[in-house]
Amino acid sequence: MTAITEFMDTDFTQRLVDSVESAADANKKAVTNTVLAPRFYTTNFDEMDRLDISPVRREWDLMMQEYEGDNNHDHFQRDAAFGEEVRTLMSKLDESLKQEFYDFLIGSLTSEFSGCILYNEVRKNVTNPDIKKLMTYMARDESRHAGFLNQSLKDFNFGIDLGQLKRTKKYTFFQPKFIFYATYLSEKIGYARYITIFRQLEKNPDKRFHPIFRWFERWCNDEFRHGESFALIMRANPKLLKGVNLWWIRFFIIAVYATMYVRDHTRPALHDALGLNATQYDFEVFKITSEISKQVFPLLVDIDNPMFKVYLDRLTSLSFAMEATKERRGVLNMLNKGRIAAQAFTTFVKLYFLPVIKSELPAKIRLAPSW
Ligand SMILES: [Fe+2]
Ligand SMILES: [Fe+2]
Repeated sequence: MTAITEFMDTDFTQRLVDSVESAADANKKAVTNTVLAPRFYTTNFDEMDRLDISPVRREWDLMMQEYEGDNNHDHFQRDAAFGEEVRTLMSKLDESLKQEFYDFLIGSLTSEFSGCILYNEVRKNVTNPDIKKLMTYMARDESRHAGFLNQSLKDFNFGIDLGQLKRTKKYTFFQPKFIFYATYLSEKIGYARYITIFRQLEKNPDKRFHPIFRWFERWCNDEFRHGESFALIMRANPKLLKGVNLWWIRFFIIAVYATMYVRDHTRPALHDALGLNATQYDFEVFKITSEISKQVFPLLVDIDNPMFKVYLDRLTSLSFAMEATKERRGVLNMLNKGRIAAQAFTTFVKLYFLPVIKSELPAKIRLAPSW
């Protein structure tokens, strides 16, 4: 606990997110891989090509009709009020909120574009007609999402060069099953995050400090459907949901939840401005995501176990303490870094081994975005 106590005692006035003052800063932030930043992925395309979705054919075909119907084809265009709202609302914001908002936009864009690249690469590298078609639709949606976010960054002259980002950001290799666990979760969490913010601002329109939040309701339905696609793929291949894979599922749930929790706590001003408390907001997102994930995962993390929050808070403090070591030099600081990393590892292991809840898979897989 020493590292945490030390951190608490420090007059920690530095911002928790690195400042963006120029397009170069924004592009640098997008390309840099950190523990908390969204990554780009590549996978084993031959294995993707061999996927068989025939056990869920009926639900799959209905989903494909929805993709084809493309009910959001006209959604990602700005309305007449957008520009004016940006000017009037943003001019009132203080600098720390602006910085956290830029960080949010860049992180969201990187994450949307990560999906776009991965789905597009799978599309190009498989011949399996079901997978190829799905990936075409999902890449279409993510490219709209990324483009829409980039327009908002361009308003501040912080536009991201997506071609350059695609060429220069490092790619992480994940075998297909890890892609399914991680991407399923990130799509459903994306839905839960966007809908929770949208509902909050529906109730408190005075807290909507940027027009982009008005787009979140229809936007998150795309993410919900993307998640449904991975749920169907996994349910069609039940071996992905048993045996040793249960340990992997558990790992991904904990890793994804913990990353989100720590990252959201680096943006206190943003949550404050939206009238949200980062802890409560994240627990609402966990609740929605866990509820949805019953469609595919045979286990749930027990988010109501008090130790779950205790360990997440500890990881957050350790992450801040690690951040503070970047400002210092010397052998003692090196030792301190090592100690913080070891404590973070132990905390993560404790989080991982908290008891989980078994869950029976429902016969009907598909869900409606009803939150
Ligand atoms: Fe998206
Ligand atoms: Fe998505």
